[in-house]
Amino acid sequence: MRIDVITIFPGMFEPVLGESIIKRARRKRKIDIRLHDLRKYAQGKHRKVDDKPFGGGPGMLMKVEPLFKAVSDILGVRKKKGCKVLLLTPQGKRLDQKKVRQIAELKRILLICGHYEGVDERVRKLFVDEEISIGDYVLTGGELPSMVLIDAVVRLIPGVLGDENSNVSESFEGGLLEYPQYTRPSDFRGLEVPKVLVSGDHNKIDEWRRHQSFKVTKKKRPDLLKK
Ligand code: ADE
Repeated sequence: MRIDVITIFPGMFEPVLGESIIKRARRKRKIDIRLHDLRKYAQGKHRKVDDKPFGGGPGMLMKVEPLFKAVSDILGVRKKKGCKVLLLTPQGKRLDQKKVRQIAELKRILLICGHYEGVDERVRKLFVDEEISIGDYVLTGGELPSMVLIDAVVRLIPGVLGDENSNVSESFEGGLLEYPQYTRPSDFRGLEVPKVLVSGDHNKIDEWRRHQSFKVTKKKRPDLLKK
């Protein structure tokens, strides 16, 4: 999968994309992530990427021309052809595991990190296919949301996680939260691991885990059971 990112802070990404599982996925060429500095596409000595809103009001908006130039340069003037353009903004559809799975199926995406008080509306009209939010709160920009999306998507790409099953049983994948897990020691200060887990009876273990998943979900996220 290829992911292009348009941002005014490319430096924010390197520490995150250069560590751990994403780093390994890039090295193994499971994922091709390319960062594009929006300022490179801006005009004038100050390379301005924002401006005041017509009609007045607080804050600044991201200008349409630099974004248009960046998208045209990255995707060609006629744009896209199999590339989905996503704008990270609190106005977008809330990202969940289902959406992450859909995005992970795509061959190519282009992420635009919004900033300031928003973007010129023509950006949406001209080249945004979908708007994505990572939650109902407002961050200073779309960079962290982009990284959240990339992280969630990358780990679903086949061959990225060591154990191919590691995302089958985890939280949300079956509409339920994950069951409790334990590792050694089996007794820590009198807190013992549930007996069934050390019984070696795999049918019993599966049954216990299913039941626990349901119990945990009912307690912590009853809203998931209604879906
Ligand atoms: N930009 C600022 N806040 C955001 C959010 N919650 N999701 C996506 N992009 C954002």
